Amino acid sequence: TPRVFSGIQPSGGLTLGNYLGALKRFAQAQDRGIETIYCMVDLHAITVWQNPDDLRRATRELAAGFIASGIDPEKSILFNQSQVAEHAQLAWIFNCVARMGWLNRMTQFKDKAGKNRENASVGLFAYPNLMAADILVYHATHVPVGEDQKQHLELTRDIATKFNNDFGVDFFPITEPVIEGAATRVMSLRDGSKKMSKSDPSDASRINMTDDADTIAKKIRKAKTDPDALPSESAGLADRPEAKNLVNIYAALADQTVDAVLADVGGKQFSEFKPMLSELAVEKLSPISGEMARLMQDTSEIDRILGLGASKASAIARPILEKTYDIVGMIRSR
Ligand code: TYM
Repeated sequence: TPRVFSGIQPSGGLTLGNYLGALKRFAQAQDRGIETIYCMVDLHAITVWQNPDDLRRATRELAAGFIASGIDPEKSILFNQSQVAEHAQLAWIFNCVARMGWLNRMTQFKDKAGKNRENASVGLFAYPNLMAADILVYHATHVPVGEDQKQHLELTRDIATKFNNDFGVDFFPITEPVIEGAATRVMSLRDGSKKMSKSDPSDASRINMTDDADTIAKKIRKAKTDPDALPSESAGLADRPEAKNLVNIYAALADQTVDAVLADVGGKQFSEFKPMLSELAVEKLSPISGEMARLMQDTSEIDRILGLGASKASAIARPILEKTYDIVGMIRSR
């Protein structure tokens, strides 16, 4: 039976990229009645420096973002990673399965470590092993993510395969990445060749889930575009990254295909399309930011939800971890 797992880092705020590439699709998987497990990966966040108070706040705000996006803690398991020790425990085993050469090839490590690799944390290097543990400690079969996580999910498959081969077992599943829809890679509003990201120094490059209606409208009005009118089919967007990005965002927000959107708006100028996009974005995002603000007024309720989720998560992870230790040859006598 399918089991979905995915995670988001509580570092900085949520962007429209996180919402369309991840949260919105997490809620859809839940509403299809599949077993869904969603995690705020605080252990991943500290692979780069996090101020402790900011981390606490970001974790709670992310939890509010999950719930406001339609994740129901009664239907999905929702928790923060550090409360379920099995993640870190399985990650250690995977540190001993994965090869240095595999991790050396990870483009996200190269990007995040930058030129000063000697000064990157060991955790940043081993990051993908913990991510594999997040998924495999539940024997999850499907992982909805944005395009940027694809390489990490391939590594997860490699780790599962090597573990199964090394120990001659058929224990860990070979996970399917689920990278679908019009918004698997939402781009910067200022530069169609860069991913929309919470770490971009320019706030105008992204829409934050906490932005108010005026801010959203202003950012869309100022978004980079080209001077041409919109094409009437998707082939016409091929060499127009900024135009393509705005149409993709529209399609994902409206739950339409790109071709269906272009059938409506083909021939329009951006001066006409941008206000349509703003209106749609505000209509879809304002209720979420409003609900996030409401939930943040009672952080003890958020903490309670995360604690309950952690207990449910542990109940699944514990026996899988115990079996893993047994396969590896660790004595379990209590
Ligand atoms: P993170 O926290 O960077 O992003 C969370 C999710 O949002 C997606 N995303 C985007 N999608 C489309 N367009 C964008 N511009 C955009 N920016 C972010 C990401 O692809 C991701 O799905 N390593 C992961 C967190 C993680 C995880 C896991 C994910 C830890 N363990 C296990 C899946 C399974 C990360 O840093 O995502």
